[in-house]
Amino acid sequence: MQPLLLDFLKVTESAAIAAMPWVGSGKKIEADDAATNAMRKELNTMRMKGRIVIGEGEIDEAPMLYIGENLGSGQGPEVDIAVDPIEGTTPTVNGQSNAITVIAAAPKGKLLHAPDMYMKKLAVGPKAKGEIDIDAPLKENLRAVAKANGKSVQELNVLIQNRPRHQEYIDIIRSEGAKVHLFNDGDIIYAIATCIETLDVDMFLGIGGAPEGVLAAAALKCLNGEMQAKLMPRKDEEVHRCIEMGIQDPQHSLSHSDLVNSDDCIFAATGITDNLFLKGVRLNNGSQLTHSVLINGRENQLRYVESQYPVVEMV
Ligand code: FBP
Repeated sequence: MQPLLLDFLKVTESAAIAAMPWVGSGKKIEADDAATNAMRKELNTMRMKGRIVIGEGEIDEAPMLYIGENLGSGQGPEVDIAVDPIEGTTPTVNGQSNAITVIAAAPKGKLLHAPDMYMKKLAVGPKAKGEIDIDAPLKENLRAVAKANGKSVQELNVLIQNRPRHQEYIDIIRSEGAKVHLFNDGDIIYAIATCIETLDVDMFLGIGGAPEGVLAAAALKCLNGEMQAKLMPRKDEEVHRCIEMGIQDPQHSLSHSDLVNSDDCIFAATGITDNLFLKGVRLNNGSQLTHSVLINGRENQLRYVESQYPVVEMV
């Protein structure tokens, strides 16, 4: 996996550059197509036997980066790949913050094949690893995390996506005196924030996309944090979908290892627009500057990478 590190970075950089012309355009399909095409093109130059396990959809609904699509030269390591060419399509086309392009990769068979449905997610950084339990009452988790992080419950900073379905969590956290920080879009970045010490985030909690959950879990695995999850199928169809994808009991809570079962994983994300710790794509003296995080699970290492690309005229 490790020899592919920079190649994966180039995949998200290319997708961010391709998405940039669509920032503020109102055109979600065009933006997503541009990022998806760019990702696929780069992935196909890589020396690997790659396979999409989390992608843009099924073969009949997504011509590019569909689940099961084989990518790469067909030689080298067998790699399972999860992609979200644009995480935050709405903020991209509305010209708002928090849009990124994301990829995670692990040896074959090591990423959960998550169906496209909601998932409850609970994430913490390295100090509170081993102290959370998604099945325990939220108050207990807050106390455990406060103890692990050497804080009082009132000093905890908890990140939650601003959605009506989270009101109960918000009320409990506030009633305990901890601080709730709401965000609008793109929960992957906010889950990762728990592992970046300077951001002083103690917990991430909420119900969002399951594919985004696996992508975030890969980053947290690489950074020695912890994420637990639970699929939230809302109708029979979604329950059947879970079973079809090999998840026999969708009600069962998922440990971090159920989500990502290897330390030998790679995570890369590039800003399309600005977020908590990445700038978006910038034009500078005829060049395009990209800002990314590249996370290497083997070494628990996070790199911030700024790259410069010449502007290519669109024909
Ligand atoms: P998109 O990339 O599909 O726009 O998803 C953005 C996102 O905010 C995810 O980060 C999050 O998991 C999900 O949407 C939440 O879903 P909803 O917008 O339905 O509440």
